[in-house]
Amino acid sequence: ATAGKVIKCRAAVAWEPNAPVVIEEIEVGPPQEGEVRIKIVASSLCRTEIFHLFERKDKQGFPTVLGHEGAGVVESVGPGVTDFKPGDTVIPVSVAQCGECRFCKSPKTNLCERNWVNYHVDLMSYPTTRFTCRGQPILQFTSTGTFSEYIVINQIYVIKIRDDAPLDRVCLLGCGVATGYGAAINTAGVTPGSVCAVFGLGAVGLAAVMGCKNAGASRIFAVDINEQKFEKAKVFGATDFLNPKAYNKPISEVLAEMTNGGVDFSLECVGNTEVSRTALESCVKGWGVSVLVGYTDVDFSARPIQLISGKTWKGTLLGGFKMKDSLPNLVNDYMTGKIKLDEFITHKMDLEQINDAINLMKTGQCIRCILNI
Ligand code: APR
Ligand code: ZN
Ligand code: ZN
Repeated sequence: ATAGKVIKCRAAVAWEPNAPVVIEEIEVGPPQEGEVRIKIVASSLCRTEIFHLFERKDKQGFPTVLGHEGAGVVESVGPGVTDFKPGDTVIPVSVAQCGECRFCKSPKTNLCERNWVNYHVDLMSYPTTRFTCRGQPILQFTSTGTFSEYIVINQIYVIKIRDDAPLDRVCLLGCGVATGYGAAINTAGVTPGSVCAVFGLGAVGLAAVMGCKNAGASRIFAVDINEQKFEKAKVFGATDFLNPKAYNKPISEVLAEMTNGGVDFSLECVGNTEVSRTALESCVKGWGVSVLVGYTDVDFSARPIQLISGKTWKGTLLGGFKMKDSLPNLVNDYMTGKIKLDEFITHKMDLEQINDAINLMKTGQCIRCILNI
């Protein structure tokens, strides 16, 4: 009944940085060539939303509807869409997989050439949007914009999943959990018996801990300045807990002493360049691998000897997963108990309470808050 028509619905609009978001009635246009319109059922809030709202140096990218960890059901499809039909259970993600470009064809990367990140990272959005509000276009944050009852998105960003999956949990696989988990198992390539350190124990870091554990690490150091995060880290498999503020020497030295020279793998899951440097310095010379996961927009530095001595410094976007290939398997892994999702969820709210959710995330009081959309 709604196919081909403009849908009016509720969405949380971020009109400007450093201000509360506003629940508005927006118009969502019908899907165009290659696009899918999705009724969003649940969406969680990720730290990247806090970064965009409050911490970016670049103030482009407003007004926007935030949200990029969502799940829902296809409402209608545009011309040329053959892989989706109304009623399909789907997860829209921020990293495309067109399947045709040279990056998609290479097994080495998940950074599709058609991904918005390649061209519009300053906007944090794809400039084409099907959202309008009060007569003006509203961006879809990271091309998704899942804090809206309906979204329109190109099919290269949409993944069909099994329809018995609980959407208010598997939505977490759209960004944070896949990011940290993949950083450990794909990008770092954590090996059985290895010693790992994870810096930052938000959802991304906890997922990295889970990845290290599932890859067979024998010791997993969980590092955070907020000791309240340690209990959760234990649930995900961390074996040792360190608060850098509790020591009067660099935590890299503390780790070196405890591990006979440093860890085999370290993962930075904060988004802080000082922590990135520390994570690299915490690795053992000769073969240590440090993975940068947290995102920020300032320069970082390290002494060349860190790399000359045989360490590797890598980065990852969405855990290196090609999402169309991997996300249905991650959903299966959740359904069969191989990976945890419920344990990330500390709060559940309705879309109307989004500013409370933002405040909880901003002040470090929640791991993940799921919003009913
Ligand atoms: N050293 C160690 N831990 C720190 C430090 C520090 N200097 N500063 C902050 N932390 C901890 C916080 O206490 C918090 O537990 O890092 C954690 C970050 O968690 P969240 O804010 O919940 O963020 P999350 O959603 O996990 O995302 C982390 O990954 O994808 C990126 O953009 C995302 O940069 C962000 C990062
Ligand atoms: Zn591609
Ligand atoms: Zn995210």
